[in-house]
Amino acid sequence: LEWLETARRAASLKAIRYVQHGHVVGLGSGSTVALAVEELSNRIREESMMITVIPTSYQSELLAIEKGLRFAELNRNTKVDVAIDGADQVQIGTLDIVKGGGAALAREKIVDSAAEKLVIVVDERKLTDKLGRNQPVPLEILPFWFNATMEKIRRLGGKPAFREGAGKLGPVVSDNGNLIVDVDFGEIQDPELLNKGLKLIPGVVETGLFIGLGGYICVGKRDGTVEVLERNK
Ligand code: 5RP
Repeated sequence: LEWLETARRAASLKAIRYVQHGHVVGLGSGSTVALAVEELSNRIREESMMITVIPTSYQSELLAIEKGLRFAELNRNTKVDVAIDGADQVQIGTLDIVKGGGAALAREKIVDSAAEKLVIVVDERKLTDKLGRNQPVPLEILPFWFNATMEKIRRLGGKPAFREGAGKLGPVVSDNGNLIVDVDFGEIQDPELLNKGLKLIPGVVETGLFIGLGGYICVGKRDGTVEVLERNK
C-alpha cells in the first residue's frame, strides 16, 4: 500500500487550498488529517498566513501545538470558515459519510456542521456505493446504564460492540468521557432515517453518520490524481 501515503498527501494538498488568510479552520482527526495539518503548517509558514484552528480531539490539539498553530477562542466565535476532516466511508452519489474511526465523532460533527466549507480528505478505498458495507457505525454513548442504550440500538437492527482500547484494557473512552460502540447494521438502506432513529435514543450522544453536510470530498487515487467530489447542502 505504498500508494496510500502519496494519495493521501496529494489529496491533503488539494484540501488545504480551501484555506485562506484570516480563516478559522476546523481540524478533524485521524492519520489523513495529520498529513493535511502538516501541509497546512508548511503553507502558513511559506505564505505568512494567519489562521486560527479549532481541533476536534487531543490528537489534533497536540499536533496543532507541535506545529505552532494558533487556537481560535471557542464561544467568542461560532464560525468555522473551513473544516478539514477525514472519513471512514463515503457513499458515492449522496456523499453521506461514516466517521468515528478515531472516536472523535462528536466534536467532529459539531465542528464540521458549523463549517462554511467542509473539506473531507480520503483515499479511494473509502468510497462505497452502500454505507455500512464492511463498516460499522461508531456511536458515542453515555456510560450510564449502557446496556439499556445498547438494547435500543439492537431494536433498530444493529449489532453493537464496545470498541476495545489499545494501550488500555477495556472499552475506548472518548475525549468527552463517554463510551465508543461500533454498530454493525450491514448495508444501510436509508442513512438519514437510521441517523434520526439513533439520535432519538436517550444515551446516544452522537452518531458517526454524517448526513447532508455538503462540501468537498478530496479523493486521493491509486494513480496519483485527486478527484474532488462536490455536494451542495
Ligand atoms: C476520527 C475519524 C477519522 O477522520 C476517520 O477515522 C479516518 O481516519 P484516517 O484518516 O486515519 O483513515 O472519523 O474520528
